[in-house]
Amino acid sequence: MTTVTWYGHACIGIESGGYHILVDPFLRDNPAATIKPDQVKADFILVSHGHGDHVGDTVEIAKKQDALVISNFEVANWLSKQGVRTHPQHIGGGFHHPFGYLKLTQAVHGSALPDGSYGGNPAGFLLYTADGKKIYLACDTGLFGDMRLIGEEGIDLAALPIGDNFTMGPLDALKAVKLINPQIVLPIHYNTWDLIAQDVNAWKKQVEAETKTKVVVLKPGESVNLS
Ligand code: NI
Ligand code: MN
Repeated sequence: MTTVTWYGHACIGIESGGYHILVDPFLRDNPAATIKPDQVKADFILVSHGHGDHVGDTVEIAKKQDALVISNFEVANWLSKQGVRTHPQHIGGGFHHPFGYLKLTQAVHGSALPDGSYGGNPAGFLLYTADGKKIYLACDTGLFGDMRLIGEEGIDLAALPIGDNFTMGPLDALKAVKLINPQIVLPIHYNTWDLIAQDVNAWKKQVEAETKTKVVVLKPGESVNLS
């Protein structure tokens, strides 16, 4: 079984095949998070881009748990200089990790690192788990038409930002659902701050009225099982 947990903002935990995969671990300074960096398990950490609300507590968690950090080449290089074990990949490239096949996808966004270093291009993640599930994490991005190609894979769960201002807002995220056609969509990157406040239940109603996709609204710390 594969379990997906939302820790608030863009931080997601995936448990699959006995591995804990932590995505964009922004916890300590995340006003929505219900756990601290030392309370989360990570064998692998995926970092989508260089912004502070995504790199977050990566260095602290990775060092403490000896987790392998997977990110684009530039972000991985920046993290490895801080003593973290990394595996660099880049957009369009996939690799067979112990937990499944992971591909970096395009994201329309920025990626400067917290100290101003160049963070390369931002990415999303497409994960094919060992138990046959396909998970698309769009991460921070605007809408782009090639989400349709990702949808051709037959996505079980897509995590999409709906917060607007920095990423897709509710209307573009609805268009994204129509391009991807996932079984389940998990809305993320909203309500962390007033700037990205959204009525997620109104969005759920609209998506479920216009598509066949089920919208799973989680509170930080809650999980959904893909069985
Ligand atoms: Ni960002
Ligand atoms: Mn962000």
